[in-house]
Amino acid sequence: MSNNILGTIQGKSSSTPYNIVSGINDNQVVELIQLTQSDTALASTSDWRKPDGAPGRFSSLDSYQDWFHEGKFNYTLIDPSHNLVGISWFSYDPQTTSGATYGFTFGLRLYGSARGIGLAKPFSRTVSNHFFASSDYLDSPHRGIWLRTGSDNLAAIKTYESLGYRKVKDAEIEGKITMVLQYQSL
Ligand SMILES: CC(C)(COP(=O)(O)OP(=O)(O)OC[C@H]1O[C@@H](n2cnc3c(N)ncnc32)[C@H](O)[C@@H]1OP(=O)(O)O)[C@@H](O)C(=O)NCCC(=O)NCCS
Repeated sequence: MSNNILGTIQGKSSSTPYNIVSGINDNQVVELIQLTQSDTALASTSDWRKPDGAPGRFSSLDSYQDWFHEGKFNYTLIDPSHNLVGISWFSYDPQTTSGATYGFTFGLRLYGSARGIGLAKPFSRTVSNHFFASSDYLDSPHRGIWLRTGSDNLAAIKTYESLGYRKVKDAEIEGKITMVLQYQSL
């Protein structure tokens, strides 16, 4: 996918425009690593450190490249000063849960002042619509989506529910529930 603007969104009580872009460039990867290091709200994720203490996926350029080369479809959210303020991705990572196989997982992050102002739903809806129309997705044998999030991460759970995800497993692994999006509900 080439980098291009998919849409412009605003927070609930702000007219600041944020652009949603497919892809991520090298400078933004550096920003992503810096944001991951400085944003303590991400401590429950595996972005900086994995639960076993090993370096997380966004802890360095090397770890980012290892993660990215596994086959990721990235999207970014950019503020009017061209700063990276959000990222989301789909990743082909088939998992069988509750008797069905889900082909992709979905990740979502908003940073700093872009968080908590209502951008999560329009950002994730736009990137989902774009990815679900792509051949990378449509040619896949398993088109359902799965994800895990903290059972107390209400902002994330509400965002995912608004997209049609439903919980299929209570918190079992690292205090995280499993949610899925069925192909037919897309
Ligand atoms: C998860 C995340 C992307 C959500 O983005 P956000 O900007 O905080 O969410 P929003 O402000 O758009 O809020 C989403 C919904 O959750 C609600 N919400 C937010 N915080 C809440 C809370 N503490 N309790 C209850 N509801 C809450 C909002 O009211 C909104 O619902 P509404 O549209 O019905 O009013 C963001 O918090 C984030 O990046 N967190 C750190 C990384 C992370 O946890 N990612 C997900 C891991 S799988």
